[in-house]
Parts: sequence; C-alpha cells; structure tokens
Amino acid sequence: MADQPRIAVVGSTMIDLIAYPPRVPAEGETIQGRDFQLGFGGKGANQAVMARLLGAEVAMVNALGDDVFGDMTVANFETFGIDGSHLVRVPGSSGVASIWVEPDGTNRIICVAGANDAMVPADAARAVTALAPALVIGQFEIPQPVTTAAFSAARSAGAVTVLNPAPAADMDPDLLAVCDWVIPNEVEFARLADASSDATDDDIAAFARRTGTRVVVTLGARGAALLGEDGTVRRIPAPAVAASDTTGAGDAFVGAFAYGLARGLDEVDAVRLGVRCASDSVQRPGTQRSFPRDVEVGELLPHAASRGTRTLS
Ligand code: RIB
Repeated sequence: MADQPRIAVVGSTMIDLIAYPPRVPAEGETIQGRDFQLGFGGKGANQAVMARLLGAEVAMVNALGDDVFGDMTVANFETFGIDGSHLVRVPGSSGVASIWVEPDGTNRIICVAGANDAMVPADAARAVTALAPALVIGQFEIPQPVTTAAFSAARSAGAVTVLNPAPAADMDPDLLAVCDWVIPNEVEFARLADASSDATDDDIAAFARRTGTRVVVTLGARGAALLGEDGTVRRIPAPAVAASDTTGAGDAFVGAFAYGLARGLDEVDAVRLGVRCASDSVQRPGTQRSFPRDVEVGELLPHAASRGTRTLS
C-alpha cells in the first residue's frame, strides 16, 4: 500500500483469557460461565493490530517470555504482517490478562505483566531510532522509563508521540514532558488530572494547559472529547450500538486515531475514525479478533477523501 505511515508501538503484549459469566461471582462463590475465549491482547499489541488493519506499516517493540504464549504472540504478529524484529525473549512468563465480561459487555481485567516488566529503556530507544517511524504509541503496561526513553528518541527524530495512560496510574513527569498526545479514558483522566470523573471541558482544557500536551478523553458509549488547537473542547459522539464485549475498545480507538494522525487526517477526522472503529469492535466478542477488518478510511471519512490525505513520514 502506497503512502502508508510507519508506526512503532512500544508497549505491552498479553494473552487474554476471557470468561463470559452471567454475572460476576460474589466472594467465595463459584459460578458457571457462558463462554470462554483465549485471544491475543495487551493494550500495546491491540493498538498495533488496529493500526495495521487500517493499513499502517507497524512495528512492535516488546519483551516476551520464553513460554508457549511468547511463541504464539510472535506468530500472531506475523499473521498480521507486523514487524517483530524488535521483540526480545526473556526467561519466564509472558504477560497474561484474566478478563471477565458480563452480558452487558462491561469488563473486569487483571493483568500480570510478566515479561513486559523486563523491557529495557536503552533497547526501546535503539529500536525507535532504527525504525524511524512517523509516530510512536505507548501505554502504562510496561515500565514508564522505557516509554520515556522511546518517546525521547522519537522526539529527537521528529516523530509524533501518543500516550494512552492505561491502566490508570500516576505519570512520571519525565514521560509527560515527551508526550505530544495523551489519550486517557475518564477514569484515567481523573487520576492524571486530579479532577472529577466527569472530564468536564474546563478540566480537560486545564490539564492540557498545565501539561503542554494535546488531549483526547475517550468516553465509552458517548464517544470522545478532543481539545482542539483553539483551546475549546469538541465532543464527538459514538453511534448507538448493541455492545456485547467492550474489551479492547479503547485500544481500537487509540490505534485508529494514531493511524489517522499519521496518515495526515485532520485531528477531528482522526477522532471520528477512532470512535468508529471502537464502536464497531464492541459488537463482537474478544479483543483483537473483534476489531474491524474492512474499514476504508476514505469511505469512512468523506471529507478526508475529498481533501486528500497527507503522510507524516
Ligand atoms: O485494553 C484491553 C486489554 O487490556 C486486554 O487485551 C488485556 O490484555 C489488557 O491489557
């Protein structure tokens, strides 16, 4: 595919063990689940796959264990055509996520980082420099100093940096200093901004002013809020859909938004693309396997198609 941007994801991989119970069990209770899926996850890997499905040239930078889950994850990236030349293997377990999804699609997740915690800042910086991407994506499922080193290398090379600060945690100021875009959900935003969980326009604008970053807050079924260049917040609604599994929807948003930015779409169109892909994904079970396969960016965004697209690379 011509003119496709190169994106590096410096982030996590997990094997998702997803149970679909009729309700969550009470303390000390065992219940029967309705269904089970073993799938590929990890916020980093999910975002890499979404960007790849839209057409980006994607490289994944991560550490995997020396177990069968590591082998499976390498093969999964090969299947998608994601560059795995900067994946390293370390002794011990790969990352694993135990996930419960209730009938209304809401999820509860416990991640065990395993090999993700063995990533090394200098290796990540070297990988980003070697890959020379237009855009680098990070999350909070690997040590923050690794993301800081990767984003610093990206900035030195003129690449755009996009941080999805998930799961919710406090952010190292050194990392914040090298973020161009920060994309939390409402819970993560409240933690970072020390604000109410409502993500009001004033809270979003104040956070962006204080940190010098561009901000998008994802709002689940309500879409997303983008702080525009003019300092005003624009809310982009999501289509009404019947959600059966929301796992990975935020990752579909981040991967698609990053793709849109790197492809040269207007940032509002990039948010629309993210909302569209996330809304689509919640209608199918699973994580990566729920992501849309057939989204044509030009078809999805008529005004982007008529305006033409630019590439950052
Ligand atoms: O965002 C969803 C992801 O969070 C899952 O794939 C799971 O692995 C955890 O990382």
